[in-house]
Amino acid sequence: MIFFLDTGIVEEIRTASEWGIVDGVTTNPSLIAKTGRSQRDVIKEITTIIDGPISAEVLSMDVKGMLREAEELASIHPNVVIKLPMTEQGISACKILAGQKIKTNVTLCFSPVQALLAAKAQATYISPFVGRLDDVSQDGIGLIREIRAIFDNYGFETQILAASIRHPMHVRDCALAGADVGTMPFSVMKSLYRHPLTDKGLTQFLEDFNKAKK
Ligand code: G3P
Repeated sequence: MIFFLDTGIVEEIRTASEWGIVDGVTTNPSLIAKTGRSQRDVIKEITTIIDGPISAEVLSMDVKGMLREAEELASIHPNVVIKLPMTEQGISACKILAGQKIKTNVTLCFSPVQALLAAKAQATYISPFVGRLDDVSQDGIGLIREIRAIFDNYGFETQILAASIRHPMHVRDCALAGADVGTMPFSVMKSLYRHPLTDKGLTQFLEDFNKAKK
């Protein structure tokens, strides 16, 4: 499973980059706003930390504006992936960018037929929001399973990028459901390492070893 960090905070990215398991970064307008910096500056700095796909989202709602923003964002670094909304305009822009060999990530996906549209538009990634479906008592993991089945039925190459991941169980269940990528906040990625029995066992090993040395 490919791991992306879902943040605009470069300090988190620097720390996580040392773990050796971060394959890329996703951002969105809310995450960029939290940094208090320009999208261009944040994305440019991230490309100096992580050598992998870096998703940057357009804000325009029309195709012409999306393409204009995509050109600007793509000029920052070859690793930049253009994040587009799951709308008629976003899908149109996705198809055009695919024709230009520019990587795309269709975001705010909440149904399998939305994912089908993105795959038909040759999106590089589709981002189903697992946590936000769970928040409204719908089956976020079930959506990953359905998209996986549909993509496998037709051999679509679009990668399922599970987003809105809120805790380690989401990571587990998205991996079991066959998501290609999981993007998660720094706190969730850090929590993947933790298990009380690991901590307890390590403490015991060290205590036993030190007792025997005496
Ligand atoms: O990339 C999408 C992700 O940032 C959304 O997460 O927790 O706001 O649903 P959340």
